[in-house]
Amino acid sequence: MNRLRTQIAIIGAGPAGLLLSHLLHQQGIDSIVLERRSKQYVERRVRAGLLEHGTVELLRRASLADRLDREALRHEGLELRIDGSRHRLPFHELTGRSTYVYGQQELVKDLIKARHEAGADLRFEVDDVALDMAEGDGPSTVRCTLDGHLTDITCDFVAGCDGFHGAARRSLPAGAKPAYERRYPCAWLGILAAAPPVARELVYATHERGFALASMRSPQISRLYLQVDPGDAVQEWLDDRIWKELRARLAVDGEAELTEGPVLEKSLVTLRSYVAEPMRHGSLFLAGDAAHIVPPTAAKGLNLAVEDVQVLSEAFHAWYGSGDRAPMDDYSDRRLPSIWEAEEFSDWMADLLHRRPDDEAYATRLQQARLAAIVDSPAAARQFAERYVGMSRSFAGRGGNRSCQS
Ligand code: APR
Ligand code: PHB
Repeated sequence: MNRLRTQIAIIGAGPAGLLLSHLLHQQGIDSIVLERRSKQYVERRVRAGLLEHGTVELLRRASLADRLDREALRHEGLELRIDGSRHRLPFHELTGRSTYVYGQQELVKDLIKARHEAGADLRFEVDDVALDMAEGDGPSTVRCTLDGHLTDITCDFVAGCDGFHGAARRSLPAGAKPAYERRYPCAWLGILAAAPPVARELVYATHERGFALASMRSPQISRLYLQVDPGDAVQEWLDDRIWKELRARLAVDGEAELTEGPVLEKSLVTLRSYVAEPMRHGSLFLAGDAAHIVPPTAAKGLNLAVEDVQVLSEAFHAWYGSGDRAPMDDYSDRRLPSIWEAEEFSDWMADLLHRRPDDEAYATRLQQARLAAIVDSPAAARQFAERYVGMSRSFAGRGGNRSCQS
């Protein structure tokens, strides 16, 4: 049996785990990151790619934004394409905030590089992670298989940053409250294609055939999504069928507006909302997708994960710096209002944009009325813009306390 010791054992090398390890290092706190997959796998995994202004600012402050500042695409608006007609939402004009398109795997590569340069202890291809959590203040143990050897890692705290299917959530005490959860009757088929983007800005298209989203990763690479049936298998979606459906749903005034290209990647995710509340159990702290999932309609998942670990790193800093445990005790309460704001907006946006499988005529008319409000009412457009750019979240770490504005 090998034995290791660290202050914080971090499970998962996604954006949450890697960024937490970086922020802790900047505060002189030691951590070990344990990742089930290989380095190559996590660096290539295609995920979302929309960063809010606040996320980019945080990455800049953490000296992690050099490449992002060179390569990310800054956006000042989006297009709602409603049954073939275009409506631009100029969110920068309405809020003063931009968003940034930068693939999550690019951020993961930047984080791994920064961590390696700092001599961090990142372990990939770690198997059988199991937590043995202390009841009180004593040290906890993470047991795992490292390089084929059974290893015990003794630590003060564990950060569960291992996503929705990870080991941390499975280790919650038997009496933990059940999570809040909602499943949606639809899934997203996502492709990465070597084709120029449909437009300079993101296009969110509602159409009687279903929702489509045209995003991008660069001026040469498109990221495109289609609402599909949750029972569909990726193999049922051959490239020709995908392009045909995209052409139909993204058409403007009946004209297809799309350049096709080789499909580089294809995947399917079922839409889901989920919040594990509270986000702390004794010495175990959950962050990112391990604690909450949002439907991808508003691209909040990565931004919430980044906020979680900033608040968590500050809490650990307070504890190790001055023995102040209040920020650790407050972690969950401090994060949950922002998380629920994002859950509500993502759920609302999912409901606004997707075609319902039951085709209920009344619900479809309600969707149309809601879309008309965003298009016709400056107040509704501004509120949508504020929520989309992440301004409305009460994230104390960004200096944005919840307040009633007169
Ligand atoms: N042991 C070790 N590592 C694990 C385990 C386990 N038992 N289970 C999962 N992991 C790893 C996964 O392989 C993954 O690399 O934990 C990591 C979790 O990373 P993400 O799923 O990217 O989650 P997170 O870091 O919270 O980032 C949230 O990811 O899902 C997207 O769109 C979401 O943008 C959001 C972001
Ligand atoms: C993406 O570019 O992957 C993306 C953008 C916006 C979303 C979801 C995904 O709402």
